[in-house]
Amino acid sequence: MNDKLKIAVVGLRFGDHVVENQIVTGRGSAWFSLAGVFDIKSSVSQARGSHYGVKSYSSFQAILADPSVNVVGLFTPPGGRAEMVREAIRSGKHVITTKPFEIDSAAALAVLEEAEALGMVVHLNSPSPKMPPDWQYVHDWRSRYSLGRPIAAHFSTWASYREKPDGGWYDDAKRCPAAPIFRLGIYSINDMVRFMGPAESVQVTTSRLFTERPTPDNAELTIRFKNGCIGGIFASFCVNDGNSYADAVVLNFENGTVYLNSAPPKSPRREVHMQLVIRDGEGPRMVDQAVIPFADRAGTYQWEALYRAIKGEKLEDTVTPAQIAEGIAVVEAMAKAEQTGTRVLVNNPHVVAKAPARC
Ligand SMILES: NC(=O)c1ccc[n+]([C@@H]2O[C@H](COP(=O)([O-])OP(=O)(O)OC[C@H]3O[C@@H](n4cnc5c(N)ncnc54)[C@H](O)[C@@H]3O)[C@@H](O)[C@H]2O)c1
Repeated sequence: MNDKLKIAVVGLRFGDHVVENQIVTGRGSAWFSLAGVFDIKSSVSQARGSHYGVKSYSSFQAILADPSVNVVGLFTPPGGRAEMVREAIRSGKHVITTKPFEIDSAAALAVLEEAEALGMVVHLNSPSPKMPPDWQYVHDWRSRYSLGRPIAAHFSTWASYREKPDGGWYDDAKRCPAAPIFRLGIYSINDMVRFMGPAESVQVTTSRLFTERPTPDNAELTIRFKNGCIGGIFASFCVNDGNSYADAVVLNFENGTVYLNSAPPKSPRREVHMQLVIRDGEGPRMVDQAVIPFADRAGTYQWEALYRAIKGEKLEDTVTPAQIAEGIAVVEAMAKAEQTGTRVLVNNPHVVAKAPARC
């Protein structure tokens, strides 16, 4: 494409992986070209800028002052990101950023609403702007097969990390609550909230098995939604079975069960397999199934949607600021639940999104 938009990327640890695999090459490269990079560690900025043959900016403000930059990719730690997004949009820069968007739901909601009012685009990978295809299937099956009310959602994700403390946000329970949930389970929180509507209360259980960080490496979060559905997310850095980011989901409805990625994996994992089971006489029957490319499932960066939104196209059925803030309200309650060891009500009075009818 000749008319690529220019992106500058801020925060060059995971952000550098995004530059290398999604902007310089990969899916984003069809729509965006790299204008430059910035990290508060100036040696990192300079090394990566010269590696990619682009500008290494001396500050975030220098990016915001560069009229050639259309979009800022923000890959800094999650705390205080709303403030950086605010500076960007007020300077006329669109934003793409990553999960967890923020740890303050009110700050997140305020900046996302301001972006909408200014006509600026702010996209996240989770929750993604457009409904990802795996969840689109769940929605379609729910109505096509009259699955009824959602009853329970069970998410499991794991990897094998054996981490040492480094003094960063990953070591700080306030900035990284219930660490495996905040770092890996966050996708499932966002997916669930988008599907179920607002949460009512949370409980959390954690343990430290192998990590040398002060934060846990094994955790389970239980969410009670206002619609009565119970959601469970298990996330762990302790399972060394080669199936990193396993990401299995079982969704029980009144009249059927959806399985997503729930069988032993094939290697390499290029696809996500989904099945729907409903009652047939006295037994179960798989009545529908779907296969989607791994690269399209929930949590991936929707570069084409970002490009089209910036170009002024109205995208249908995109995630709302309230839905994004609801996920963060769950994180806020989870942090309190971790600190107190009790069930904590989700404080989301600023949230206006409604649960789907009769769920
Ligand atoms: N690490 C992963 O595999 C991974 C995967 C997906 C998403 N993410 C998300 O990406 C974000 C960043 O994660 P990370 O692992 O890279 O964190 P990190 O703390 O390891 O690295 C953050 C980088 O940003 C820089 N930085 C911090 N504040 C800055 C600022 N104000 N301006 C410019 N640079 C700044 C730091 O120097 C560092 O290089 C998090 O939200 C995380 O959840 C990480």
